[in-house]
Amino acid sequence: MKKNICIVGIGYIGLPTAAMFSSYGHKVIGVDINENVVNVLNKGKITITEPGLEEFVKKVVSSGNLSASIVPKESDVFIICVPTPINKDKTANIELVISATKSIVPVLKKGNIVVLESTSPVGTTEEVIKPILENSGLNIGKDVLLGYSPERVIPGNIIYELKHNDRVVGGINEKSANEIKELYKTIVDGNIYTTNCKTAELCKLMENTYRDVNIALANELAMICEDLGINVWDVIKYCNKHPRVNIHNPGPGVGGHCLAVDPWFIVEKEPKLAKIIGLSRETNDFMPNFIFSKIEKLLKDIKYDKKITILGATYKANIDDMRESPIIKLVNILEDNGYKVEIYYTFIKDNNLVNEDLLDSCKDSDLIILGVDHDEFKDLPWDEIKKVVRGNIVLDTRNFFNENKIKSSGFIYKLLGKM
Ligand SMILES: NC(=O)c1ccc[n+]([C@@H]2O[C@H](COP(=O)([O-])OP(=O)(O)OC[C@H]3O[C@@H](n4cnc5c(N)ncnc54)[C@H](O)[C@@H]3O)[C@@H](O)[C@H]2O)c1
Repeated sequence: MKKNICIVGIGYIGLPTAAMFSSYGHKVIGVDINENVVNVLNKGKITITEPGLEEFVKKVVSSGNLSASIVPKESDVFIICVPTPINKDKTANIELVISATKSIVPVLKKGNIVVLESTSPVGTTEEVIKPILENSGLNIGKDVLLGYSPERVIPGNIIYELKHNDRVVGGINEKSANEIKELYKTIVDGNIYTTNCKTAELCKLMENTYRDVNIALANELAMICEDLGINVWDVIKYCNKHPRVNIHNPGPGVGGHCLAVDPWFIVEKEPKLAKIIGLSRETNDFMPNFIFSKIEKLLKDIKYDKKITILGATYKANIDDMRESPIIKLVNILEDNGYKVEIYYTFIKDNNLVNEDLLDSCKDSDLIILGVDHDEFKDLPWDEIKKVVRGNIVLDTRNFFNENKIKSSGFIYKLLGKM
């Protein structure tokens, strides 16, 4: 059955979700407090970068099924997709979830469904959203169904994953969970599993925590290997020949607004019990400092002002997102210690942090560091780079480069996790 759906917050998650529902014939209004986002969407355009999204949105806007508004309007369904950032003290900031929920109260009516998609601390749906919705005078659970359904998509492949990933739906009661499942079934080919809200909330947090903890284990192993004079990449390669072992890859740290943030929401609720989770966050956050100590050792004999070129600045490969990037943290540490740093990166345009000219950014450098393993860095002109640098060391933090190629251009090749 086709519904009228209001999606509150039309960013990386809300906009593809809005486009997907409208492509299946639902009438969707994308709501955003950012006037520019609303105006641009009403012209069939977008303000974010995601492969295939612009064409998809253009099609559904011109079909008349998707439009945008600054305020929520009466609908059958409300889906909340606003950001849930972290405060400086590592606690969850759910202010936007609260204001988005308040904004739908005046237009809420009997028979509505409300779904929270924002990654949220355990208990948010039942203990924060439900009481706000009750201000409408309606019985939440009976007159209005309520639930939580987290998003698992990966930036760069959102449209495909939105449709094909399995989903978890938590309801404040069985009826809520089942009706929300029926709603998502109209756009999702994957399996949809129903449960209660707290279970679904913790699932989302734990999925990202699982990855963060495993990366921390690999990072700790890399530091141990450097101390023992063993190559971590060999250890990982041979360990992973074990049928039940899958050690992740170490690197310069973990960034982004999910892996570097969500585990803290568990630590905040359970500080005494979530020990491995908190320690893993600290381990991953420490990696830029560890890379810095490696740099200090590599350049200890240079007495003049040192210049370093870093290739890549985003929190992971082949995207344009620098949120919580460990490379930015490394840059700050280096600059605080008197190093001159240049970042080479072609993804982000018009950003005064980065130099888009490879040879110019490497000019007079004492050290070239691979920060992010973007595909386009696979085949760099090392002979040309060698002509413009002052030093002769390349530090690969991802085991990404072809060691022989770099050495044949006259560089010394250094690798994270190998002394
Ligand atoms: N981006 C991802 O890869 C990803 C993946 C899984 C889960 N999530 C989660 O999804 C949620 C949304 O993340 P995102 O990346 O789409 O955020 P985003 O920053 O891309 O977009 C959010 C949008 O919400 C708008 N907004 C903020 N407050 C509002 C309000 N009160 N009313 C209406 N609009 C409002 C903002 O203007 C913005 O356009 C977060 O909780 C995030 O953790 C994100």
